[in-house]
Amino acid sequence: MSATAPVRPVLPPDIAARKGGVPLVVLTAYTTPMARLVDAHCDIALVGDSVGMVLHGMPSTLGVTLEMMILHGRAVVRGCQKAMPVIDMPFGSYEESPQQAYRNAARLIAETGAPAVKLEGGQHMAETIAFLTARGVPVMAHVGLTPQAVNTLGGYKVVGRDDEAEKVMADARACESAGAFSIVLEKVPVGLAGRITAALRIPTIGIGAGADCDGQVLVIDDMLGMFTAFRPKFVKRYADLGAAADQAIAAYAEEVRTRAFPGPEHGFADQVKS
Ligand code: KIV
Repeated sequence: MSATAPVRPVLPPDIAARKGGVPLVVLTAYTTPMARLVDAHCDIALVGDSVGMVLHGMPSTLGVTLEMMILHGRAVVRGCQKAMPVIDMPFGSYEESPQQAYRNAARLIAETGAPAVKLEGGQHMAETIAFLTARGVPVMAHVGLTPQAVNTLGGYKVVGRDDEAEKVMADARACESAGAFSIVLEKVPVGLAGRITAALRIPTIGIGAGADCDGQVLVIDDMLGMFTAFRPKFVKRYADLGAAADQAIAAYAEEVRTRAFPGPEHGFADQVKS
C-alpha cells in the first residue's frame, strides 16, 4: 500500500465552491512541460485558444481549429495531476447551434480527458450553455472582451464602460442562469467587475478586470515575459524569459561560430578503454 494519498484532481464543483474564498489561480498552458509547472501552483490550467497567437504565430484566435485544441488539450491533461484543465472551444465550433456545440464539446472532453470547456459569449450563448450543462458538459463562460468577436468589437478594447455596463452585467447573469460553473471577465472596468462578482453566485475569474474578482487568469507567456515587445497594461511580468532566451541563443550562436562549443567535455571518446 502506498504511504502517500493519491492526488485528487480539481473538478468543476470544487471551483464553483470557491466563490468568495481564497482567490482562484488560473494560467494558460499549451504543452505538457508548462502544464506540469502550472499544475504545481494553480487551480486551473486553461488551454486557451490564445495558443494560436502564442505558439503558432497567428494574428488572432480566429484560425484556431478543434484539432489544435484537442492536440494541445491532450498535452496539458498529461501534465496535470491536480489542477483542472479547461479547454477553449475555438471560433466556429459552437456558435451555430446547441447541437453543434455539444458535438464538439463532447469531442474535446472525450478526446482530451479534460473535465470542462470554456466558450465566449453572454446572453446569446445562454441556450447553448444550458444545453451543454444539462448533458454533462461543465461550461466556463467568458464575457466582456471576447477575442473571437474582435472584428465586431473593432479591436481588443475595454468592454463595459458607460452604457455598455448593463449589457455585460446581463451577459454574466445569463451565463450563470444557464448553468455555467464559473465565468471569465476580460477587460471589464474594475468597478463593473466588482459589481458582477457581488451579483453572481458563481466565481468570476478576471483578466484585466481588477482585484475584486474571485480569481485571476493570465496568458502564461505574457506573465513570463516571453514576448519582449508585447506589454499589455493588465499583465504583470513575473519573469523576463524572452530576454534570457535571446541572450542564451546569442551566446550559443557566438560559441558555435568561434568553435568554443562544443568543448572536450561535450564529446565522446573513440575508445571505451584507455
Ligand atoms: O484564450 C485564452 O487564453 C483566454 C484567456 C486569456 C482567458 O481565453
